[in-house]
Amino acid sequence: KIITLSLMGAVLATGHAQARDYDTVRIGVDIPYVPMEYRTPDGTLTGFDIDLGNALCKQAELDCKWVIQGWDGIIPGLQARKFDAIMSSMTINDDRKKQILFSDPYMTPPSAWFTPKDSTISSPNEESLKGKSIGVQRGTVQDNYVTDHYGSNASIKRYATADDVAIDMEAGRLDIAFLDYPTGKAALVDSKSGQFKTVGDMLTEPKKYFGEGFGIAFRKRDRELAETFNKALAELKDNGTYNTLYTKYFPD
Ligand code: ARG
Repeated sequence: KIITLSLMGAVLATGHAQARDYDTVRIGVDIPYVPMEYRTPDGTLTGFDIDLGNALCKQAELDCKWVIQGWDGIIPGLQARKFDAIMSSMTINDDRKKQILFSDPYMTPPSAWFTPKDSTISSPNEESLKGKSIGVQRGTVQDNYVTDHYGSNASIKRYATADDVAIDMEAGRLDIAFLDYPTGKAALVDSKSGQFKTVGDMLTEPKKYFGEGFGIAFRKRDRELAETFNKALAELKDNGTYNTLYTKYFPD
């Protein structure tokens, strides 16, 4: 209730966002994206983003509801008001900042290359990836990066979900995959017992693609809502909750 009043206050003061009820904040998320957002066998939504998102909502005294949305429609879905925020391991970068507003980063993992254990590719570059098939999730920063840097020589295969990338890696239909490190590690290295490894450099640059880590996204006019999440994130970092969740999902 308090947030509703203060949001309306902001609306009246700035003439920005329309007066609307954020008693329930709907959060869009693309699954499966292990270990960030996925369903347990019994159907429960879980993962680092889900647990952190729920903790942030609790801290901010907001009611939140997760809305499942395919990655390629996730920014349009936010703009079309199908949901009010995106918490889906979304990388903050300048291109996206033109369209949407980001919270402070809540995590800053690199991107990484994954190959079968016996692969001869030791350092991915224009030359070593010539004629190879590279798997990415469509519309991700990894897709944008390989499209711009390897697009002319390699065959880039774009998949709807990161799980589909892992499935085709396992089926031997891909030479290499380029994914957010935590997801490639969970989906390939940890879960497919010894079949896959990381190769080459982990990438956090160029910033044009890999930006400033993962953020929660909002419509541009919802600055007040973004600030509410930033405040809650700072509080969870201060009181140890963030750390507990982080070590639960990323023990090493
Ligand atoms: N971090 C990458 C990006 O922002 C990929 C995120 C994909 N997230 C997901 N839940 N499928 O482009």
